[in-house]
Amino acid sequence: MAQLAVNGGPKTRTKPFPAWPVFDETEVQALAEVCRSGHWGCLSGRKVAEFEKKFAAFQDAKYGVCVTNGTAALEVALRAVGVRPGDEVIVPPYTFIASASSVLTIGGIPVFVDIDPETYNLDPPKIEAAITEKTKAIMAVHIGGGPADMDAIAAVAKKHGLRVVEDAAQAHGAAWNGRRVGAIGDVGTFSFQSSKNLTAGEGGYVVTNDPEVYSAAWSLHNCGRVPEGQWYEHHILGWNLRLTEFQGAVLLAQMDRLEEQMKTREENALYLDSLLSKIEGIRPLRRDPRVTAHAYHLYIFRYDPQGFKRLPREKFLKALNAEGIPCSAGYVPLYKEEAFYAEPGGCPLGCAFYGREMDYSKVSCPVTEHVCANEAVWLFQSQLLGPKEDMDDIAQAVRKVQANAGEMDRG
Ligand SMILES: Cc1ncc(COP(=O)(O)O)c(C=O)c1O
Repeated sequence: MAQLAVNGGPKTRTKPFPAWPVFDETEVQALAEVCRSGHWGCLSGRKVAEFEKKFAAFQDAKYGVCVTNGTAALEVALRAVGVRPGDEVIVPPYTFIASASSVLTIGGIPVFVDIDPETYNLDPPKIEAAITEKTKAIMAVHIGGGPADMDAIAAVAKKHGLRVVEDAAQAHGAAWNGRRVGAIGDVGTFSFQSSKNLTAGEGGYVVTNDPEVYSAAWSLHNCGRVPEGQWYEHHILGWNLRLTEFQGAVLLAQMDRLEEQMKTREENALYLDSLLSKIEGIRPLRRDPRVTAHAYHLYIFRYDPQGFKRLPREKFLKALNAEGIPCSAGYVPLYKEEAFYAEPGGCPLGCAFYGREMDYSKVSCPVTEHVCANEAVWLFQSQLLGPKEDMDDIAQAVRKVQANAGEMDRG
């Protein structure tokens, strides 16, 4: 096989992967229409309201509220299901910071529980040991768009009287046992930030089947107002998290593309699974048979240096990138982020820990640590939006790195 590109050889792939976001004149027209209408905010316009209904139905849910971003959606969702200062929320450490920082910013305490080594989602058998009298909720994060085990999480939650919050920021359209995620638990959230499979540049969404949770979320995102109340009538402390009509219009246009894009991502991902699983040292994440739709916001595979003459994962990533396949290592364990180091009397965010000594430097989640340090390889969702041949290129580049692994410096 030819020399590795990282060592001066030819690249496996010189063409770029599909660009993101995907748009055309439809989005441009939709934006112009909102501009000309003069209804730029969702209080007078209809775009956000229309999208809220449409997306709730798409996610098999009764109610939904648009908010400014996925982080705000989590804060709203947690408060809407009754998480209060001092309450503990079980969170996986293998996720974006917002899954845990949202708990802290509303005064709660994130308690980290390790992930399953084969799916990278919260490992349900490990949850019970972390439950205390202060635990209020479990946050199921559908990492990379692959649904967490909602049956097992619901069972533990039921046994201990806990609320289930789904962080579905990466999981638009994903389904568990034929039901789309978000409102399988008590409440769920989505993000429409630039990289997400459904995007308006920024944006978020809270989804639920519970009318009380919906009404709390609605009020929280609209300054504590109530639907039939006066403008200057505020029943609870809330925020202004309303989305603009410009974002509503873009989201409506993007939604028309979503199902087709989901289909392409799934087909390509399954084909890529079949190619990569034949390569020694590479294992795609396990897809539970109850995952009836996967959003593939990320395509993640597991790298074992033993199959690559002990080439460290960082060198593998460097070589694969040089071959023209953009890829990355992904997260660090959240509790290792500076933001989570408890200082006496509180954390750097200024949140008190309400009596419980929380020293995140003592937290240890060995699976997450191994995955972050040595194993995970991420490809991005838009790499799955092209033709099948793009998957052949990815697999070919991995095989090329493997064949030449001995020539790479291991240091
Ligand atoms: C798992 C997860 N949760 C929450 C968020 C927060 O969303 P946003 O960036 O829209 O605030 C993200 C987005 O990156 C995410 O990936």
